[in-house]
Amino acid sequence: MVGVENVRTSGSAFDPLAGGEVDEVRRGLAAVRATGCPVTTVASGLRFVAGHGAAREALLSHEHLSNAGNFVLEADNDGPAPPDLITQSDPPGHTALRALLRPGFARASITDATPWIREYADELLDALPAGGPADLVGDYALPLTGRVIARLVGVPAADAAELTAHSLAITAILPAAFTDTDAWRRLEEYFTLAARARRADDDPPDDLLTRLALGTAGGRRLTDQEVAFHAWQLFVAGLESTAYTIGSALYRLLSDRTRWEVLLADRSLLDGVREEGLRHGSAIRWVLRTAGEGASVGGEEVTAGERVIVGIESANLDETAFGPDAAEFDLRRPSARRHVAFGYGIHLCLGAELSRIEISTALAALLDRMPALRLAPGAGWTDVASPMFCGPQRVEVQW
Ligand code: HEM
Repeated sequence: MVGVENVRTSGSAFDPLAGGEVDEVRRGLAAVRATGCPVTTVASGLRFVAGHGAAREALLSHEHLSNAGNFVLEADNDGPAPPDLITQSDPPGHTALRALLRPGFARASITDATPWIREYADELLDALPAGGPADLVGDYALPLTGRVIARLVGVPAADAAELTAHSLAITAILPAAFTDTDAWRRLEEYFTLAARARRADDDPPDDLLTRLALGTAGGRRLTDQEVAFHAWQLFVAGLESTAYTIGSALYRLLSDRTRWEVLLADRSLLDGVREEGLRHGSAIRWVLRTAGEGASVGGEEVTAGERVIVGIESANLDETAFGPDAAEFDLRRPSARRHVAFGYGIHLCLGAELSRIEISTALAALLDRMPALRLAPGAGWTDVASPMFCGPQRVEVQW
């Protein structure tokens, strides 16, 4: 499979796939948006969509911009070839996978999630040393999102930490081949055994693992190995993105503590703060597509075979959509909900509502229990070491 590395050149003035220090990346994105081009050329065969309107158009254009190879997964010579996962597939395969998984994200059961997510949040906060210090990404947000996704998939909360560690080990090396790593072998074994147990169960619980193990997609049952890949992708999809959104929202609230005070005094702002956190945080910086025949963005043709980076972070910071102060974190931004943090179109994030509940609940627990929360002396922003994710590695606090 052709990896992104193979179509990138090092001569480009600004490489949106490289990641890096958040303010510097955002200055680069602003400069690209200022050109006004709906789709710019980053390197030979690689195009970039920077504006909010053009990004939405590109994300809606699934008939011409394919998701195959979106998140490049390369098989090892000796390892199993990954199947087409939901974010790497186009209709009709994508439609079948989405139909299989969607009921597992049904709104009713997700809305019921607030009390048990709050319970997890309280348990994690109870375990912190009184007054701090603590790292609210490593000690709170990541373990919280790990437990939540473990429950949704249908594996014991006690296994969440180990599954989280293996998932993080894999995302750290993507898009390189990962199926020959210890982390993948462990995950494959874990989910294969879990899938077999579900198939042997006379009365299996209604969760995502049961859907994967017993349901059908495209008229056939998935193999054990396919179940393992899909279950892993759900883990990855739900884990870091939500944790980094919680982390970046907290950092923005505490680095100018008047924002925290305003939110403490008026909790009706919480939903808007969550949406602004999703917009401004843009935990997933971009998604990839491959152009087919007849592809165009903003009236500009894209040649078949070109890779197209849809700049989610850039779209979320677009001044024409969010106003001249789009780079700022504004607790009361009326347009915040227009963000595309969860994507748009047929691949719109399946976990969006769950994630919203996680973010609100995580922030509410801190507001309730730690009103004196503040950044620890000297605490700054260190970017997560991944070109695809945006967020702080740590948020060091005391209270
Ligand atoms: C703040 C947190 C999250 C962000 C920023 C986020 C972002 C995204 C984005 C941008 C996409 C679209 C990918 C594309 O167009 O190629 C997506 C898809 C997806 N997300 Fe999320 N996500 C988050 C949380 C979650 C959670 C908690 C889950 C739960 C497991 C989840 C599961 C999925 C799945 C299954 C898809 C694939 C949908 C499809 O291809 O049809 N996400 N997400």
